[in-house]
Amino acid sequence: MLSFWFLGSAAALASYAFAQGEVQSKVVCDAATKICYSTYTQTEIDITYGIALPKNATDPYDAIIKITAPADKKWVGFAWGGQMVWDPLTVVWPNATSVVASARWAFSTGMPLGYEGAEHFLLKGSSSNSTHWTVNALCKGCTGWQSNEDERYALNATGTTQFAWAYGTTDVSTPQNNDSTFSVHAAVGHWNHDLNAARVDDFDSLVKSNLLTAPPVVTSAPTTARTTIVTSTTSSSTSAVVKATIPASCSGAGNPVFQGKLATGWKATKILGGLRSPRSIQFDTAGNMLVVQSGLGITYHVLGSDGCITSSKTLISLNSLNHGIALSPDGKTLYASSMTQAYSWPYDAAAATVGTRTTIMTGMVNGGSHLTRTLAVRPDQPNLLVVSHGSNSNIDTATSNPSTGRAIIKVFDLSKIPSGGFKYASDGYTAGYGQRNEVGMCFDNNNMLWGVENSGDDFRRTVNGQSTDVHQNNPGEKIHYMGDITKPNNNWYGYPSCFTVWQPSDFKDKTFKVGDWFVQAPNSTFNDDTCVQKATPPALTLFPHSAPIDCKFDPENANMFITYHGSWNRQPTTGFKLVAVPFKKGSDGAYVPVDPLTSTTAAKDIFYNPDVTKCAGNGPGLSSGCFRPAGLAYDKAGRLFMTSDTSSNGEIWILGQG
Ligand SMILES: *[C@@H]1O[C@H](CO)[C@@H](O)[C@H](O)[C@H]1NC(C)=O
Ligand SMILES: *[C@@H]1O[C@H](CO)[C@@H](O)[C@H](O)[C@H]1NC(C)=O
Ligand SMILES: *[C@@H]1O[C@H](CO)[C@@H](O)[C@H](O)[C@H]1NC(C)=O
Ligand SMILES: *[C@@H]1O[C@H](CO)[C@@H](O)[C@H](O)[C@H]1NC(C)=O
Ligand SMILES: *[C@@H]1O[C@H](CO)[C@@H](O)[C@H](O)[C@H]1NC(C)=O
Ligand SMILES: *[C@@H]1O[C@H](CO)[C@@H](O)[C@H](O)[C@H]1NC(C)=O
Repeated sequence: MLSFWFLGSAAALASYAFAQGEVQSKVVCDAATKICYSTYTQTEIDITYGIALPKNATDPYDAIIKITAPADKKWVGFAWGGQMVWDPLTVVWPNATSVVASARWAFSTGMPLGYEGAEHFLLKGSSSNSTHWTVNALCKGCTGWQSNEDERYALNATGTTQFAWAYGTTDVSTPQNNDSTFSVHAAVGHWNHDLNAARVDDFDSLVKSNLLTAPPVVTSAPTTARTTIVTSTTSSSTSAVVKATIPASCSGAGNPVFQGKLATGWKATKILGGLRSPRSIQFDTAGNMLVVQSGLGITYHVLGSDGCITSSKTLISLNSLNHGIALSPDGKTLYASSMTQAYSWPYDAAAATVGTRTTIMTGMVNGGSHLTRTLAVRPDQPNLLVVSHGSNSNIDTATSNPSTGRAIIKVFDLSKIPSGGFKYASDGYTAGYGQRNEVGMCFDNNNMLWGVENSGDDFRRTVNGQSTDVHQNNPGEKIHYMGDITKPNNNWYGYPSCFTVWQPSDFKDKTFKVGDWFVQAPNSTFNDDTCVQKATPPALTLFPHSAPIDCKFDPENANMFITYHGSWNRQPTTGFKLVAVPFKKGSDGAYVPVDPLTSTTAAKDIFYNPDVTKCAGNGPGLSSGCFRPAGLAYDKAGRLFMTSDTSSNGEIWILGQG
């Protein structure tokens, strides 16, 4: 699955980490501005970062940031909290002979959006020429912020801190605009910075004497809404089960932002637009739709009998919510998750109100490359909350031990919430571990748990010193069967060692079938056969790099619908569509996929972009225009709803065959 920008934690990026406390900055004074900065230079790539702070730096306090980069670096990012999510970012780039400093914030793995809590003002020395460019700016609001746990956090100006950097080598899309999108980084890292040495005398007078009088003028790029032609083209062999009527259009929903194509017999109508990264959908017991908008909170939408929206309101404003949502079966308790915590609220569906928030879980990882924590409540088990937590990085080796509380699905008894909430890693019991990032979870009609796993990136097969790149079409993403969550499931699903073959011909050392286990580098103690002995195989494998992020069974349990969010780790791009995988009931009454594990054709395209090769998985900066399927939910009338979570202009669709 994709990481937009640098999202690694210190642990995940050990190669960039330095000994604790080893400071890599030194004081350098600038003759022209008379400002002395605590400065760090990456000599090998020729980028310098300087910070100057007031002598008396009491939160909230201003900072001066100076970044100099060679002309081949098209943008540079600086993370004030040392990671690329959930802290203020200063993103800078050249703009003709001048430069731009933009305040950003990344709520999730998408494009960092404008951050209203900070503002930059250019100082003397800011300019761009044919060899280098320099940004010298006052930042108001960069040194303190609200943490993911909703607490005030401020940089300790008399101590040291870890900052993070990133840069890109492709031009930002609209350099004249401080809201410009930009493409994924070329490299990222950390360093330890001495802030105490950054404190200067006369900070205020230095700012005053160096402030460029004309503040930057913002030019907003016009947003072009495209009209969409939704056409039916391909044939689909999924069982025609969803017959609920789909409205031809919904007034007020706006035109679809991107073109889409549908399988034969299917209809899709946009019911909402202008949303901010809409992720998961949860229907309440009264039929209202609740939507998590990442970086905003939860919104409440009343539907007319036709499936169109008649009214909307914000139910919960909490910008740390980023994906997970669940409702107790009686509809009276709402659950939602941030990257690090889970919460509950008393919920009144008719009044569209929530009561006081309770923190029911803490201790989920802050940072790393997988930031969402999917929640689910089994319909017949109101006390069991299922929480999925992905790995920290592509290959998070420590997760072979389930006590890490990563790459695992856990179950928590809501009738026994400890004071202060559950601790994710140490409380609860296991519903399977060794799932790299099981973002989608769904129950079948027997209330058995299934999930869809995002498997790894950049894969190679190395045997006897011979290394082959197999990443383009391997490993397969997976559908996992976890089963009955009322009792512990201590099965290991293979990660971080065992992966699934999708394209056998890529492997030169051995004849594999689709769905076979492989390890990247077999050795004397662990090889492909070890996986066969120890790991629980998937129920089915899915196209590599599809990034499946939600699953829902249709009411008849004839298909599992899966959203493919799409990834960056493949050329051409793949994913960006809704698919259906046919299921059947076996003689023992259990549901299973119709296709065998050796199938590569189980998933049928239902709703997809006309040219997926143009859908780069890195947000609007690289996308030439694609919708991005994320959350799914059925309503009581058997209609399927789907979000498209582009960071602005997100949409919700109603789909069916009626
Ligand atoms: C430092 O600044 C704070 C807030 O502006 C102020 O309350 C405090 O008195 C100052 N301390 C000194 C030593 O100037
Ligand atoms: C762009 O500049 C305007 C005017 O200074 C400012 O209000 C806005 O916050 C800036 N946006 C970003 C993303 O920095
Ligand atoms: C170009 O700008 C850099 C700093 O951004 C400066 O050090 C260098 O002297 C400039 N070169 C010329 C030719 O002006
Ligand atoms: C800030 O860092 C200094 C130096 O490490 C330390 O002595 C001080 O206690 C820290 N202040 C806070 C508020 O943590
Ligand atoms: C970029 O430069 C142009 C002039 O070349 C100017 O009009 C525009 O305001 C600048 N943009 C920013 C955000 O400073
Ligand atoms: C052998 O491979 C396994 C699984 O990839 C790994 O955990 C282990 O460290 C490897 N052992 C050696 C000696 O390289």
